[in-house]
Amino acid sequence: MSDPTPRTAPPRVGRSGAGVPVVGEGERAAEAAPVVDDVSRPDVVLCPGGPMLVRGRLVVEDDQGLRHTTHRPVSAICRCSRSATLPWCDGTHKVLPATLRP
Ligand code: FES
Repeated sequence: MSDPTPRTAPPRVGRSGAGVPVVGEGERAAEAAPVVDDVSRPDVVLCPGGPMLVRGRLVVEDDQGLRHTTHRPVSAICRCSRSATLPWCDGTHKVLPATLRP
């Protein structure tokens, strides 16, 4: 039987006051977030049962406090906490039972 508890908490999303998007700064970052009025092109997409897709250059803070920079136009952040390349999604969520998917 598998453990239904994720190994790590998923990263949080926010933006820095300097305009550089940051994941993991919590409420303080959310207060500094610019108004987004183009909802046709979201910056963050939560994939059902899969990763969180983020657009653009970001700094992602993991549960250890380590910061990782995105290098792709769109990056996939693991939400199931089972990836071997955390905080990035490596596709492991696809082989998990439905009860363990985010
Ligand atoms: S969401 Fe965790 S490996 Fe894809």
